[in-house]
Amino acid sequence: MKYFLYVIGGHYGDEAKGKITDILAPHFDVVVRGAGGANAGHTIISGDKKIALHLLPAGVLHKETLGILGAEMMIDTSALENELEEAKKWNPSPKIMISGKANVVMDWHKAFDGAGEKTGQKIGTTKRGIGPAAETKYSRRWAVTMSDVLSKDLDKKIHRIVSELRLRLVEQHDAFSKFRSMKVSEIIDADENSELGKVLKKYADEQTASLKKIEKLFGSLIVEDVGEVVSQEKYKRILGEGAQGTMLDPTFGNLPYTTSTPTTTQGLSRGMQLEPKSKEVVGVFKAYETRVGEGPFPTEIPGRLGEELQKKGGEFGATTGRGRRCGWFNLHEAQFAVRVNGLTWMAITKLDVLDELDEIKVGIKSKGDSVEYKTFKGWKTNTTKCRDFDSLPKEAKEYLLWLEKQLVPLAIVSVGPERKETIFTDSFKKHLSEAGIKL
Ligand code: IMP
Repeated sequence: MKYFLYVIGGHYGDEAKGKITDILAPHFDVVVRGAGGANAGHTIISGDKKIALHLLPAGVLHKETLGILGAEMMIDTSALENELEEAKKWNPSPKIMISGKANVVMDWHKAFDGAGEKTGQKIGTTKRGIGPAAETKYSRRWAVTMSDVLSKDLDKKIHRIVSELRLRLVEQHDAFSKFRSMKVSEIIDADENSELGKVLKKYADEQTASLKKIEKLFGSLIVEDVGEVVSQEKYKRILGEGAQGTMLDPTFGNLPYTTSTPTTTQGLSRGMQLEPKSKEVVGVFKAYETRVGEGPFPTEIPGRLGEELQKKGGEFGATTGRGRRCGWFNLHEAQFAVRVNGLTWMAITKLDVLDELDEIKVGIKSKGDSVEYKTFKGWKTNTTKCRDFDSLPKEAKEYLLWLEKQLVPLAIVSVGPERKETIFTDSFKKHLSEAGIKL
């Protein structure tokens, strides 16, 4: 019997999923990152070592674990190259596979993302080209997949795409700015001997060359169907790592303030190119809530308290360094996350960030713009040394047990950034041991 465990963000991303998957990964044969791209960021801390992973699943830091980059991913290959170098400092020979169905984030996607944020409605994207890469995927004609990198027709394909994207390149890419005074019809009609034609060709040549370099580096890691690999008999325990959070999903979140790849269990299964016949799903939530970028945030805490939480929680993006907006736990959103992801467990992270507060609130009901809150008494005690549920202060236990009652059973409580600052509940430990996992 195979055992599948998914770890999914319950709110707006940055719930510290990376820490949870990093702890669990050595007990799994495979860790699959299903979706997302270099817009995501996991910071993993061990002793005085720190690493920020954007594309690689946390599992690759462990020698025996196979890390898979899944089919719903948007892969920035130069970011992957750098990250792999960093990861090798922790694990000199990481085991990695990349789905041939994953899309490549090209230079033009990043240019379009930056321009879109300036000229269009501001979403507050990470400018990593994810939205435009999804656009070219779903418009079909201009997608570049990891499999294309292996194709003998790569050169032809890149030249065709660059030629077809010429209007947008002239409008939105700095390398083409000198052609902006041309008429649209002139841009369309420019042949390969025209100045624009020559610049387009040079750009396409450069893009092809950089993909050829990627073929040398990663070609042997690309597998068309990673689902076939995961279903092999020898892989018994599979950990799925979600990217971003449920409320940033392009279908379930509030457009346009979402990311562009799926963030829920469905997206993870699609990325894995396989739907497990049964699975357990841990939804990860912070003990409070944060959101980066623009968009509605009903339980946002304005003013000083919000800033204090941001400082105490180190709420600055691992990818962009932007300050994260801070708010109270939104129960309604968490219940939604339980439903759309089929959560079976929950992890509450960064509990220690609330240690000094007099009171803690949870948004329980929204009426238009106003939110009704339930207030809990603060515990005013340092929780970072707690290593089991019973040793937590009474008020913290009350808070967690109430959340558990409204949502799903509590599996994990995180009380600090380090691996050791983590509490596994007895019921989750029992569950894992039934799956043959001893923490
Ligand atoms: P994009 O994914 O770069 O297009 O950004 C779209 C929205 O998703 C912005 O609000 C980003 O701040 C947000 N976002 C993207 N990735 C993450 C993440 O890993 N954590 C939190 N927010 C993210």
